Amino acid sequence: MKGLILSGGAGTRLRPITHTSAKQLVPVANKPILFYGIEDMAAAGITEIGIIIGDTGDEIRAAVGDGSAFGVNVTYLPQEAPLGLAHCVLIAHDFLGDDDFVMYLGDNMLEQGLSDFVTSFESDRAAARIPADADGPAVPAAQILLAKVDDPSAFGVAELAPGGDSVVRLVEKPADPPSNLALVGVYLFDATIHEAVASIAPSDRGELEITDAIQWLIEHGHRVRHEVLEGWWIDTGKKDPLLECNRLVLDVLEARVDGSVDDESRLEGKVIIEAGAVIERSVIRGPAIVGVDAVVRDSYIGPFSSVAARCEVIDSELDHSVMLADSRIVGIPRIVDSLIGRSAEVQQSNARPRATRLMLGDHSRVEIS
Ligand code: G1P
Repeated sequence: MKGLILSGGAGTRLRPITHTSAKQLVPVANKPILFYGIEDMAAAGITEIGIIIGDTGDEIRAAVGDGSAFGVNVTYLPQEAPLGLAHCVLIAHDFLGDDDFVMYLGDNMLEQGLSDFVTSFESDRAAARIPADADGPAVPAAQILLAKVDDPSAFGVAELAPGGDSVVRLVEKPADPPSNLALVGVYLFDATIHEAVASIAPSDRGELEITDAIQWLIEHGHRVRHEVLEGWWIDTGKKDPLLECNRLVLDVLEARVDGSVDDESRLEGKVIIEAGAVIERSVIRGPAIVGVDAVVRDSYIGPFSSVAARCEVIDSELDHSVMLADSRIVGIPRIVDSLIGRSAEVQQSNARPRATRLMLGDHSRVEIS
């Protein structure tokens, strides 16, 4: 089994962060989202991984390298334009050959690993091939993962047969969803999918939809297995889901102090202080992480906050927020629910006239109380 990770796309819903950075490299608990997917594949025994890259390809290559840091072999597959998820399968055909593969959207995060999902597909395929079982279910050509969501029209949606045994229809972002079961961005396919992606036409948004390719499989008599997800799943492509994901991941990390914490500081609950980080006269209430060489002085860092490498939080209070590398917060009484980009600065100023002075990137959003 091979792996195909989709790491192109413009990330418009995470602007301005994604003007300068790939959405798959935005950190969750100080680790790029994409790395969790690669680690999940490695843990499921998948070592040949193709990564589809677009405009942000150089940055993805620099971060992931040849994959050896993860114990896998990475092949980069450039996509000339974001023409859809099924288009990614089309251009990955040479890399994939006729092997079964797991396709993983690089901005999706799942609580559960991939191993069980992969094992159930493989054992179902093996069982269906046993001749004595000729009357049993057909060999599945694909396996999809479904999650119950409140806003199905934002996703691909599955309609199950009465009783829920099989998938009868899939539709991409329907105005009138047939169920609340969204397609999670993790799929398993055999080589039949190559015929499907070559046969479908672009959708209204001009993309070759993987949802339509799976619908093609169903219409052409191929069996599509499904599982309904138990744990959490987050499509991290927007600020609030990203913060929620950060919360869920921080919650399960182990406390660790590799940096320095002075006697006047207090760490409460699960807190990670990375090597070289300096905490002075501050309170850090976990779950929270302070990255390599960061400085927290005369400040409070509240639960579900991730402060990345070399950040500075001075004389400020931060809660339920993510700071990317090299950013600074100085003299701000309280920042909550925020995502602060790389090398960004938020400072108090006593300059006259007393006013808010901004220099914001395109598509920035500021809420002032
Ligand atoms: C894509 C798929 C959609 C799926 C979703 C999961 O949507 O088209 O079917 O439910 O990923 O994250 P997109 O992120 O392109 O809007």
